[in-house]
Amino acid sequence: MAEENDFVIQLDRVSKFYPAGKARVKALDGVSLEVTRGEFVSVIGPSGGGKTTLLNCIAGLDHPDEGEIFLNRRPISKMDDAQLTALRRCEIGFIFQFFNLLPTLTLWENVELPLLLGAAGKRNEDNIQRLLEYAGLDHRAQSFPAELSGGEMQRVAIARALVHEPSIILADEPTGNLDTENGEKILALLAQVCKDFKTTILLVTHNPQAAALGQRCFEIRDGVMRNGRPLSANPAR
Ligand SMILES: Nc1ncnc2c1ncn2[C@@H]1O[C@H](COP(=O)(O)OP(=O)(O)OP(=O)(O)O)[C@@H](O)[C@H]1O
Ligand SMILES: [Mg+2]
Repeated sequence: MAEENDFVIQLDRVSKFYPAGKARVKALDGVSLEVTRGEFVSVIGPSGGGKTTLLNCIAGLDHPDEGEIFLNRRPISKMDDAQLTALRRCEIGFIFQFFNLLPTLTLWENVELPLLLGAAGKRNEDNIQRLLEYAGLDHRAQSFPAELSGGEMQRVAIARALVHEPSIILADEPTGNLDTENGEKILALLAQVCKDFKTTILLVTHNPQAAALGQRCFEIRDGVMRNGRPLSANPAR
């Protein structure tokens, strides 16, 4: 069980607007959320509800118009681009609906990639092998993504998301491109990852079965998150 106040992700009344012709879309509307270390939290919502915007803002790929986001208690609005890039490379692992493996690299090289981009101190080749074994694909290390099934590609993507030992995994609709059976295997693997590596997982999805996996589940619709709450004491203010 996480220590009290051991927050890895905190959103405090975060809003994000996009222009849409003469109007504007409220992609996030006063979203507050706290996720503690090692927790598995899911966010369910319909298409256009704000799920990807939420993850992009947490990763510093997009910037909120209002509110503040803290990662490991550091306010990301105070970070410059270099610090945000370093944060992503060291602290965050991503899992996407379409796997986003690089087609010209072998599975081993795909899993290695975050280590090449990130802090040199974290480079550990044993870890690549160990994670390919963990994903059940060590025998395919020299294969290319096009030679794999969707479920296998997503297992490689999970290994890639873990290799630099991030504190957070952000998963955007990780079963959206898989059949039911493979989707269930991926969800089981993610739950196992949370237990085995104590990695905080934030999963967004429109699939109730995937969302049910979270220890806590929120709903986001028209940018409004249900059951989130503002920070009682905001350390940046
Ligand atoms: N770059 C952008 N420019 C303008 N509008 C955007 C942009 N990105 C997102 N939006 C709008 O913000 C809203 C939330 O989009 P978002 O991609 O977060 O939804 P989502 O919940 O991830 O949907 P899906 O399940 O289809 O992936 C939508 O109305 C979308 O059209
Ligand atoms: Mg999306």
